Amino acid sequence: MRRPIIAGNWKMYKDINEARELVAAIKRDVFEIDNVEMVVIPPFVDLAEVDEITTGSNISLGAQNCYWEKEGAFTGEISPAMLKSVGCKYVVVGHSERRKYFGETDETVNLKIKAVIEAGLSPIACVGETLEEREKGETLEVVKRQVKGALKGFSADFLKKLVIAYEPVWAIGTGRTATPDQAQEVHAMIRGLLKELYSANFAEEKCVLYGGSVKPDNIESLMRAKDIDGGLIGGASLKADGYVSMAKITSVLYSSL
Ligand code: PGA
Repeated sequence: MRRPIIAGNWKMYKDINEARELVAAIKRDVFEIDNVEMVVIPPFVDLAEVDEITTGSNISLGAQNCYWEKEGAFTGEISPAMLKSVGCKYVVVGHSERRKYFGETDETVNLKIKAVIEAGLSPIACVGETLEEREKGETLEVVKRQVKGALKGFSADFLKKLVIAYEPVWAIGTGRTATPDQAQEVHAMIRGLLKELYSANFAEEKCVLYGGSVKPDNIESLMRAKDIDGGLIGGASLKADGYVSMAKITSVLYSSL
């Protein structure tokens, strides 16, 4: 059985003091959970400090973005190796907000996945359709194209640490969640595609997270879906009690499966 991941994407929220407070409160309440991979994904400037607080705990650290070059004259950018040096294990790539506001494309997502894996980290590669694409009936086609573009040129062996997150753009930060059936349809397609591109084993092992208005109220029904292996959660992960309750609900559900 795949180990579920509950990842809190803090986006551009939480200064250093707020970050310290939030992660300390989460850590205090999740120490007994051992069947869920819990990840917090703060802004860059908080990473080193959050790492100090989470080191030795059951909480892992992730970053929200990176550049694909190893080093150089790239003012304002951060390399995967730098993220590793402050304790990161995961890096989100291709989040829809980065695609929308910062020009990220399937090609740059592909370059970033390569760089992240070469640095020894796990990419969380985000894919998802817009409302317009869904209404035109293009969801599966769009997501398929994004997954293929992201993984182009990589072997199964190279992609051991890959995590995929399906995040319908219309559900992010809108309070409008995909129903478990809507999400499951896309997750099943992604797993089928991984099988086609690589192998049945590869597809079975990979975690595919759902993201888009996940909250304590709806997480259980989403996590019950066969091909949903966790959540990438924004708004509801910004308060300790919200994050903790979603981690606990997932833990209880998975221990009963
Ligand atoms: P949301 O964000 O949970 O606030 O919808 C999810 C995400 O952007 O990863």
